Amino acid sequence: MKFFGSGWGTKFMKYVVTGTAGFIGFFTAQHLLRQGHEVVGIDAMVPYYDVKLKERRNDILQQHRGFTSHKADIADLEAVTEIFKKSAPQRVIHLAAQAGVRYSLEFPETYIHSNIVGTFNLLEQVRHKQIEHFLMASTSSAYGASTDFPFCELQAADTPLTIYAATKRGGEHMCHSYANLWGQATTVFRFFSVYGPWGRPDMALFKFTDAILKGEPIEIYNHGNMVRDFTYVEDLVKAIVLLADAIPAAGQSVGDFDSISPVAPYRLVNIGNGDPVPLMTFIEEIEKSTGKSAIKTYLPMQPGDVEKTFADTRLLKTLTGFTPGAKVDYGVAEFVRWFREYYQV
Ligand SMILES: NC(=O)c1ccc[n+]([C@@H]2O[C@H](COP(=O)([O-])OP(=O)(O)OC[C@H]3O[C@@H](n4cnc5c(N)ncnc54)[C@H](O)[C@@H]3O)[C@@H](O)[C@H]2O)c1
Repeated sequence: MKFFGSGWGTKFMKYVVTGTAGFIGFFTAQHLLRQGHEVVGIDAMVPYYDVKLKERRNDILQQHRGFTSHKADIADLEAVTEIFKKSAPQRVIHLAAQAGVRYSLEFPETYIHSNIVGTFNLLEQVRHKQIEHFLMASTSSAYGASTDFPFCELQAADTPLTIYAATKRGGEHMCHSYANLWGQATTVFRFFSVYGPWGRPDMALFKFTDAILKGEPIEIYNHGNMVRDFTYVEDLVKAIVLLADAIPAAGQSVGDFDSISPVAPYRLVNIGNGDPVPLMTFIEEIEKSTGKSAIKTYLPMQPGDVEKTFADTRLLKTLTGFTPGAKVDYGVAEFVRWFREYYQV
Protein backbone atom coordinates (compact mmCIF):
# COMPACT_ATOMS: atom_id res chain seq x y z
CA MET A 1 0.00 0.00 0.00
CA LYS A 2 1.23 3.49 -0.82
CA PHE A 3 1.56 5.99 2.02
CA PHE A 4 0.99 9.66 1.24
CA GLY A 5 -0.10 12.71 3.22
CA SER A 6 -3.70 11.54 3.42
CA GLY A 7 -2.76 8.55 5.62
CA TRP A 8 -2.89 4.77 5.79
CA GLY A 9 -5.89 3.17 4.19
CA THR A 10 -6.39 5.95 1.64
CA LYS A 11 -8.18 4.75 -1.47
CA PHE A 12 -6.43 6.17 -4.49
CA MET A 13 -8.95 7.36 -7.01
CA LYS A 14 -9.24 8.68 -10.49
CA TYR A 15 -10.84 12.11 -10.61
CA VAL A 16 -12.01 14.12 -13.58
CA VAL A 17 -11.61 17.79 -12.62
CA THR A 18 -12.99 20.43 -14.98
CA GLY A 19 -11.45 23.91 -15.06
CA THR A 20 -7.94 22.72 -14.02
CA ALA A 21 -6.24 25.66 -15.72
CA GLY A 22 -8.43 27.98 -13.67
CA PHE A 23 -7.65 29.40 -10.24
CA ILE A 24 -9.54 26.93 -8.02
CA GLY A 25 -9.20 23.95 -10.38
CA PHE A 26 -5.41 24.36 -10.35
CA PHE A 27 -5.24 24.21 -6.52
CA THR A 28 -7.77 21.38 -6.35
CA ALA A 29 -5.89 19.23 -8.88
CA GLN A 30 -2.57 19.93 -7.15
CA HIS A 31 -3.99 18.91 -3.77
CA LEU A 32 -5.40 15.64 -5.14
CA LEU A 33 -2.19 14.81 -7.03
CA ARG A 34 -0.11 15.39 -3.88
CA GLN A 35 -2.38 12.93 -2.06
CA GLY A 36 -1.53 10.33 -4.73
CA HIS A 37 -4.77 10.45 -6.73
CA GLU A 38 -4.93 10.49 -10.51
CA VAL A 39 -6.41 13.61 -12.12
CA VAL A 40 -7.80 13.98 -15.63
CA GLY A 41 -8.11 17.71 -16.25
CA ILE A 42 -10.42 19.39 -18.73
CA ASP A 43 -10.13 23.07 -19.62
CA ALA A 44 -10.94 25.02 -22.79
CA MET A 45 -8.44 27.79 -21.90
CA VAL A 46 -11.14 30.37 -22.58
CA PRO A 47 -9.65 33.85 -23.08
CA TYR A 48 -11.88 35.52 -20.46
CA TYR A 49 -8.62 36.54 -18.79
CA ASP A 50 -4.90 36.14 -19.55
CA VAL A 51 -4.46 32.69 -21.11
CA LYS A 52 -0.73 32.73 -20.25
CA LEU A 53 -1.63 32.49 -16.57
CA LYS A 54 -3.80 29.44 -17.36
CA GLU A 55 -1.01 27.85 -19.39
CA ARG A 56 1.47 28.41 -16.56
CA ARG A 57 -0.87 26.71 -14.07
CA ASN A 58 -1.35 23.84 -16.52
CA ASP A 59 2.44 23.49 -17.00
CA ILE A 60 2.87 23.12 -13.23
CA LEU A 61 0.20 20.40 -13.10
CA GLN A 62 1.89 18.59 -16.00
CA GLN A 63 4.91 18.04 -13.78
CA HIS A 64 2.88 15.50 -11.79
CA ARG A 65 2.95 11.97 -13.17
CA GLY A 66 -0.70 11.39 -12.26
CA PHE A 67 -2.00 14.33 -14.32
CA THR A 68 -3.43 14.19 -17.83
CA SER A 69 -4.95 17.28 -19.41
CA HIS A 70 -7.42 17.77 -22.22
CA LYS A 71 -8.01 21.07 -23.93
CA ALA A 72 -11.73 20.74 -24.57
CA ASP A 73 -14.94 22.72 -24.30
CA ILE A 74 -17.41 21.07 -21.91
CA ALA A 75 -20.22 22.42 -24.12
CA ASP A 76 -18.93 20.05 -26.85
CA LEU A 77 -20.78 16.82 -26.04
CA GLU A 78 -18.73 14.66 -28.40
CA ALA A 79 -15.41 15.81 -26.94
CA VAL A 80 -16.60 15.32 -23.35
CA THR A 81 -18.01 11.87 -24.13
CA GLU A 82 -14.69 10.80 -25.66
CA ILE A 83 -12.73 11.96 -22.58
CA PHE A 84 -15.05 10.10 -20.20
CA LYS A 85 -14.95 6.96 -22.35
CA LYS A 86 -11.16 6.89 -22.11
CA SER A 87 -10.77 7.97 -18.48
CA ALA A 88 -13.52 6.11 -16.54
CA PRO A 89 -13.23 8.24 -13.35
CA GLN A 90 -14.56 7.31 -9.90
CA ARG A 91 -15.29 10.93 -8.97
CA VAL A 92 -15.88 14.19 -10.85
CA ILE A 93 -15.23 17.70 -9.49
CA HIS A 94 -16.84 20.16 -11.89
CA LEU A 95 -15.30 23.62 -11.50
CA ALA A 96 -15.18 24.87 -15.11
CA ALA A 97 -17.55 27.78 -15.59
CA GLN A 98 -17.94 31.22 -16.94
CA ALA A 99 -17.44 33.14 -13.70
CA GLY A 100 -17.70 36.82 -12.85
CA VAL A 101 -20.68 38.92 -11.89
CA ARG A 102 -19.88 42.03 -13.92
CA TYR A 103 -18.98 40.29 -17.21
CA SER A 104 -22.40 38.63 -17.19
CA LEU A 105 -24.01 41.99 -17.95
CA GLU A 106 -22.15 42.20 -21.27
CA PHE A 107 -21.78 38.58 -22.40
CA PRO A 108 -24.71 36.62 -20.94
CA GLU A 109 -24.57 33.96 -23.71
CA THR A 110 -21.18 32.68 -22.46
CA TYR A 111 -22.85 31.74 -19.13
CA ILE A 112 -25.53 29.68 -20.88
CA HIS A 113 -22.83 27.98 -22.97
CA SER A 114 -20.47 26.92 -20.15
CA ASN A 115 -22.68 26.82 -17.07
CA ILE A 116 -25.88 25.35 -18.52
CA VAL A 117 -24.89 23.39 -21.65
CA GLY A 118 -21.48 22.41 -20.20
CA THR A 119 -22.97 21.23 -16.90
CA PHE A 120 -25.68 19.30 -18.73
CA ASN A 121 -23.04 17.48 -20.84
CA LEU A 122 -21.17 16.43 -17.70
CA LEU A 123 -24.35 15.21 -16.03
CA GLU A 124 -25.05 13.10 -19.12
CA GLN A 125 -21.64 11.46 -18.69
CA VAL A 126 -22.13 10.53 -15.06
CA ARG A 127 -25.65 9.33 -15.78
CA HIS A 128 -24.24 6.73 -18.18
CA LYS A 129 -21.05 5.93 -16.25
CA GLN A 130 -22.37 5.68 -12.65
CA ILE A 131 -19.63 7.30 -10.64
CA GLU A 132 -19.19 7.34 -6.86
CA HIS A 133 -19.59 11.10 -6.34
CA PHE A 134 -20.26 14.13 -8.57
CA LEU A 135 -19.27 17.48 -7.04
CA MET A 136 -19.92 20.88 -8.57
CA ALA A 137 -19.06 24.49 -7.79
CA SER A 138 -21.84 26.99 -7.29
CA THR A 139 -21.62 30.39 -5.68
CA SER A 140 -22.73 32.62 -2.82
CA SER A 141 -24.35 34.70 -5.60
CA ALA A 142 -27.08 32.04 -5.58
CA TYR A 143 -28.41 33.74 -2.39
CA GLY A 144 -29.21 36.75 -4.60
CA ALA A 145 -31.09 39.51 -2.83
CA SER A 146 -31.27 37.67 0.50
CA THR A 147 -30.42 39.69 3.61
CA ASP A 148 -31.10 36.80 5.94
CA PHE A 149 -27.58 36.47 7.44
CA PRO A 150 -25.74 34.19 7.72
CA PHE A 151 -26.74 32.50 4.45
CA CYS A 152 -27.93 29.00 5.33
CA GLU A 153 -28.19 26.33 2.61
CA LEU A 154 -31.88 25.85 3.50
CA GLN A 155 -32.82 29.34 2.25
CA ALA A 156 -34.99 29.41 -0.86
CA ALA A 157 -32.34 31.27 -2.94
CA ASP A 158 -34.93 32.25 -5.52
CA THR A 159 -33.88 35.87 -6.18
CA PRO A 160 -30.80 35.63 -8.47
CA LEU A 161 -29.58 39.11 -9.42
CA THR A 162 -27.46 38.23 -12.48
CA ILE A 163 -27.40 35.67 -15.28
CA TYR A 164 -24.25 34.27 -13.60
CA ALA A 165 -26.22 33.53 -10.43
CA ALA A 166 -29.20 32.27 -12.44
CA THR A 167 -27.09 29.80 -14.45
CA LYS A 168 -25.37 28.54 -11.30
CA ARG A 169 -28.71 28.12 -9.53
CA GLY A 170 -29.99 26.39 -12.67
CA GLY A 171 -26.97 24.07 -12.53
CA GLU A 172 -27.84 23.21 -8.92
CA HIS A 173 -31.37 22.28 -9.98
CA MET A 174 -30.11 20.18 -12.91
CA CYS A 175 -27.84 18.31 -10.49
CA HIS A 176 -30.77 17.63 -8.16
CA SER A 177 -32.87 16.22 -10.98
CA TYR A 178 -30.07 13.89 -12.12
CA ALA A 179 -29.43 12.80 -8.54
CA ASN A 180 -33.14 12.01 -8.28
CA LEU A 181 -33.62 10.25 -11.61
CA TRP A 182 -30.37 8.30 -11.78
CA GLY A 183 -29.39 7.98 -8.12
CA GLN A 184 -26.16 9.91 -8.74
CA ALA A 185 -24.63 11.01 -5.39
CA THR A 186 -24.04 14.75 -5.80
CA THR A 187 -22.64 17.56 -3.67
CA VAL A 188 -22.86 21.18 -4.79
CA PHE A 189 -20.58 23.72 -3.10
CA ARG A 190 -21.39 27.39 -2.75
CA PHE A 191 -18.09 29.25 -2.64
CA PHE A 192 -17.69 32.65 -0.96
CA SER A 193 -15.16 35.19 -2.50
CA VAL A 194 -12.16 32.93 -2.96
CA TYR A 195 -8.74 34.59 -3.05
CA GLY A 196 -5.04 33.76 -2.86
CA PRO A 197 -1.91 33.29 -5.00
CA TRP A 198 -2.52 32.51 -8.69
CA GLY A 199 -5.86 34.34 -8.33
CA ARG A 200 -8.04 35.67 -11.11
CA PRO A 201 -7.07 38.93 -12.85
CA ASP A 202 -10.74 40.02 -12.98
CA MET A 203 -11.17 39.89 -9.20
CA ALA A 204 -10.74 42.82 -6.80
CA LEU A 205 -7.57 41.62 -5.06
CA PHE A 206 -5.66 41.26 -8.34
CA LYS A 207 -6.96 44.52 -9.84
CA PHE A 208 -6.33 46.51 -6.65
CA THR A 209 -2.81 45.12 -6.11
CA ASP A 210 -1.89 45.78 -9.74
CA ALA A 211 -3.20 49.37 -9.64
CA ILE A 212 -1.69 50.18 -6.23
CA LEU A 213 1.75 48.96 -7.30
CA LYS A 214 1.50 51.05 -10.50
CA GLY A 215 0.32 54.12 -8.57
CA GLU A 216 -3.01 54.09 -10.44
CA PRO A 217 -6.44 54.71 -8.88
CA ILE A 218 -8.65 51.83 -7.72
CA GLU A 219 -12.43 51.79 -8.23
CA ILE A 220 -14.38 51.09 -5.05
CA TYR A 221 -18.05 50.27 -5.56
CA ASN A 222 -20.93 51.25 -3.28
CA HIS A 223 -18.58 53.86 -1.80
CA GLY A 224 -16.78 51.07 0.06
CA ASN A 225 -19.86 49.85 1.93
CA MET A 226 -19.35 46.19 1.10
CA VAL A 227 -18.70 43.19 3.29
CA ARG A 228 -17.43 39.85 2.01
CA ASP A 229 -16.91 36.43 3.55
CA PHE A 230 -13.42 36.03 2.00
CA THR A 231 -12.16 32.44 1.75
CA TYR A 232 -8.48 31.61 1.31
CA VAL A 233 -7.94 29.21 -1.59
CA GLU A 234 -6.00 26.57 0.36
CA ASP A 235 -8.77 26.39 2.98
CA LEU A 236 -11.35 26.14 0.23
CA VAL A 237 -9.56 23.26 -1.46
CA LYS A 238 -9.13 21.41 1.84
CA ALA A 239 -12.90 21.65 2.29
CA ILE A 240 -13.57 20.45 -1.30
CA VAL A 241 -11.38 17.39 -0.86
CA LEU A 242 -12.89 16.53 2.54
CA LEU A 243 -16.39 16.86 1.08
CA ALA A 244 -15.45 14.45 -1.73
CA ASP A 245 -15.40 11.74 0.98
CA ALA A 246 -18.76 12.84 2.47
CA ILE A 247 -21.06 11.04 0.03
CA PRO A 248 -24.71 12.07 0.49
CA ALA A 249 -27.57 9.59 0.84
CA ALA A 250 -31.19 10.71 0.31
CA GLY A 251 -32.88 11.80 3.51
CA GLN A 252 -29.88 11.01 5.74
CA SER A 253 -29.60 14.29 7.58
CA VAL A 254 -26.77 15.36 9.89
CA GLY A 255 -28.79 18.11 11.60
CA ASP A 256 -31.70 20.50 11.25
CA PHE A 257 -29.46 22.81 9.17
CA ASP A 258 -28.71 20.06 6.60
CA SER A 259 -29.74 20.74 2.99
CA ILE A 260 -29.87 17.01 2.16
CA SER A 261 -32.68 16.29 -0.28
CA PRO A 262 -35.50 14.13 1.09
CA VAL A 263 -35.75 12.31 -2.26
CA ALA A 264 -32.27 12.26 -3.81
CA PRO A 265 -28.62 11.76 -2.77
CA TYR A 266 -28.02 15.49 -3.18
CA ARG A 267 -26.69 18.15 -0.83
CA LEU A 268 -25.67 21.83 -1.06
CA VAL A 269 -22.78 23.01 1.14
CA ASN A 270 -21.44 26.53 1.76
CA ILE A 271 -17.67 26.91 1.82
CA GLY A 272 -16.75 30.18 3.53
CA ASN A 273 -15.06 31.43 6.70
CA GLY A 274 -18.30 32.50 8.36
CA ASP A 275 -16.41 35.67 9.28
CA PRO A 276 -17.26 38.56 6.93
CA VAL A 277 -14.70 41.36 6.47
CA PRO A 278 -15.42 44.96 5.34
CA LEU A 279 -14.01 45.71 1.89
CA MET A 280 -12.13 48.72 3.31
CA THR A 281 -10.29 46.42 5.78
CA PHE A 282 -9.35 44.17 2.86
CA ILE A 283 -7.97 47.20 0.98
CA GLU A 284 -5.97 48.26 4.07
CA GLU A 285 -4.35 44.81 4.09
CA ILE A 286 -3.32 45.27 0.44
CA GLU A 287 -1.85 48.67 1.33
CA LYS A 288 0.10 47.11 4.23
CA SER A 289 1.40 44.24 2.10
CA THR A 290 2.43 46.42 -0.83
CA GLY A 291 3.72 49.21 1.44
CA LYS A 292 1.79 51.75 -0.69
CA SER A 293 -1.38 53.80 -0.23
CA ALA A 294 -4.23 53.32 -2.67
CA ILE A 295 -5.61 56.23 -4.69
CA LYS A 296 -9.31 55.64 -4.14
CA THR A 297 -12.14 56.44 -6.55
CA TYR A 298 -15.53 55.86 -4.92
CA LEU A 299 -18.35 54.72 -7.20
CA PRO A 300 -22.01 53.75 -6.76
CA MET A 301 -23.17 50.14 -6.44
CA GLN A 302 -22.77 48.09 -9.64
CA PRO A 303 -25.91 46.48 -11.05
CA GLY A 304 -26.22 42.87 -9.90
CA ASP A 305 -23.83 43.26 -6.97
CA VAL A 306 -24.73 42.72 -3.30
CA GLU A 307 -23.63 44.59 -0.19
CA LYS A 308 -22.83 41.63 1.99
CA THR A 309 -22.11 37.91 1.94
CA PHE A 310 -21.85 35.78 5.05
CA ALA A 311 -21.72 31.96 5.08
CA ASP A 312 -23.38 29.74 7.62
CA THR A 313 -20.66 27.08 8.02
CA ARG A 314 -22.39 24.64 10.40
CA LEU A 315 -23.05 22.07 7.68
CA LEU A 316 -19.46 22.11 6.37
CA LYS A 317 -18.13 21.77 9.94
CA THR A 318 -20.46 18.88 10.75
CA LEU A 319 -19.64 16.98 7.55
CA THR A 320 -15.87 17.50 7.58
CA GLY A 321 -14.81 18.69 11.05
CA PHE A 322 -13.25 21.68 9.29
CA THR A 323 -14.06 25.38 8.88
CA PRO A 324 -11.88 27.70 6.77
CA GLY A 325 -10.09 30.08 9.11
CA ALA A 326 -7.23 31.88 7.31
CA LYS A 327 -7.41 35.59 8.09
CA VAL A 328 -7.18 38.24 5.37
CA ASP A 329 -3.88 39.68 6.70
CA TYR A 330 -2.22 36.31 6.00
CA GLY A 331 -4.05 35.60 2.73
CA VAL A 332 -3.53 39.04 1.21
CA ALA A 333 0.17 38.98 2.13
CA GLU A 334 0.51 35.58 0.42
CA PHE A 335 -1.20 36.92 -2.69
CA VAL A 336 0.95 40.07 -2.86
CA ARG A 337 4.13 38.01 -2.36
CA TRP A 338 3.09 35.74 -5.27
CA PHE A 339 2.04 38.69 -7.49
CA ARG A 340 5.36 40.52 -7.05
CA GLU A 341 7.37 37.39 -7.73
CA TYR A 342 5.28 36.26 -10.71
CA TYR A 343 5.15 39.65 -12.45
CA GLN A 344 8.59 40.76 -11.19
CA VAL A 345 7.25 44.06 -9.79
N1 LIG B 1 -13.23 32.48 -7.35
C1 LIG B 1 -14.33 32.70 -6.64
O1 LIG B 1 -14.37 33.58 -5.75
C2 LIG B 1 -15.59 31.89 -6.88
C3 LIG B 1 -16.71 32.18 -6.07
C4 LIG B 1 -17.87 31.45 -6.26
C5 LIG B 1 -17.90 30.42 -7.20
N2 LIG B 1 -16.81 30.16 -7.97
C6 LIG B 1 -16.89 29.06 -8.94
O2 LIG B 1 -15.74 28.24 -8.80
C7 LIG B 1 -15.39 27.69 -10.06
C8 LIG B 1 -13.94 27.97 -10.37
O3 LIG B 1 -13.77 29.38 -10.43
P1 LIG B 1 -12.35 30.08 -10.61
O4 LIG B 1 -12.33 31.27 -9.73
O5 LIG B 1 -11.28 29.08 -10.53
O6 LIG B 1 -12.52 30.60 -12.12
P2 LIG B 1 -11.52 30.50 -13.37
O7 LIG B 1 -12.14 31.33 -14.44
O8 LIG B 1 -10.13 30.83 -12.95
O9 LIG B 1 -11.57 28.97 -13.75
C9 LIG B 1 -12.56 28.39 -14.56
C10 LIG B 1 -11.86 27.60 -15.65
O10 LIG B 1 -12.88 26.98 -16.44
C11 LIG B 1 -12.50 27.06 -17.79
N3 LIG B 1 -13.72 27.04 -18.61
C12 LIG B 1 -14.68 27.99 -18.70
N4 LIG B 1 -15.63 27.62 -19.58
C13 LIG B 1 -15.26 26.40 -20.05
C14 LIG B 1 -15.81 25.50 -20.99
N5 LIG B 1 -16.94 25.78 -21.64
N6 LIG B 1 -15.18 24.32 -21.22
C15 LIG B 1 -14.03 24.01 -20.57
N7 LIG B 1 -13.44 24.84 -19.68
C16 LIG B 1 -14.04 26.03 -19.44
C17 LIG B 1 -11.75 28.36 -17.94
O11 LIG B 1 -10.84 28.34 -19.05
C18 LIG B 1 -11.04 28.47 -16.60
O12 LIG B 1 -9.70 28.02 -16.68
C19 LIG B 1 -16.38 28.25 -11.06
O13 LIG B 1 -17.42 27.31 -11.22
C20 LIG B 1 -16.89 29.50 -10.38
O14 LIG B 1 -18.17 29.86 -10.84
C21 LIG B 1 -15.64 30.88 -7.83
